[in-house]
Amino acid sequence: ARRDALPRDLDGRRVLISAGGTREPLDPVRFLGNRSSGRQGYALARVAAQRGAEVTLVAANSELPAPAGVHVVRVGSAAELREEMLRLAAESDVVVMSAAVADFRPVSRAEHKMKKGAADPEALELTRNPDILVELVAGRRPGVVVVGFAAETGDVSGDVLHHGREKLRRKGCDLLVLNEVGEGRAFETEDNEGWLLYADGREQTLHRAAKSELASMVWDAVLRLLHA
Ligand code: CTP
Ligand code: CA
Repeated sequence: ARRDALPRDLDGRRVLISAGGTREPLDPVRFLGNRSSGRQGYALARVAAQRGAEVTLVAANSELPAPAGVHVVRVGSAAELREEMLRLAAESDVVVMSAAVADFRPVSRAEHKMKKGAADPEALELTRNPDILVELVAGRRPGVVVVGFAAETGDVSGDVLHHGREKLRRKGCDLLVLNEVGEGRAFETEDNEGWLLYADGREQTLHRAAKSELASMVWDAVLRLLHA
């Protein structure tokens, strides 16, 4: 959509979005990371700004340029992302966790670059990262809308919707954007690419769409929650 074609229906709303993927340092030059590009979070930020919101984007290791009118805060690790999100959420009306957060981090970070040495490597010791989304839900002010993202595949314990519903319940957020992922997805079906799952049990099918269209549908849903 052209910029001036979008309604200014998020005028004055303060929106906080995380994007990208965290990197968990092993030493000054190495990390455990993931392949998240940040594109979905950036699309959410761009569309929100076009619709009049005051947008802060906390970007974890994304190479993408800052969208017009969006305040970008850059972070690396899950710990840094958590600190910025908890700080900035205090002055936000909507919080969206679209970043891919590492579930685990190395127990210790070497101060100096690790040497290969002569011995075989030791197993990496990992520890659990805090769940930022759960913390944001627990600490939110009344009226603040919190949105989570999930990318699921079906497996032996259940299908995509089953996992999505469980995740929504576990996280306690107002809205979960559930994407079905997996090899050959696009070839199996043309539609039913995902769902919006609401805390009150409502479920809305998301047909396959560009990231900017998906972003618009998420903001439409958020607006209805803000008005409710
Ligand atoms: N998330 C978070 N903090 C974490 C892990 C995830 O805030 N430490 C957020 C993500 O940004 C996303 C949502 O939680 O909005 C779901 O992430 P996901 O990885 O699907 O959920 P997990 O609880 O980590 O469950 P699992 O990886 O086992 O499926
Ligand atoms: Ca995870």
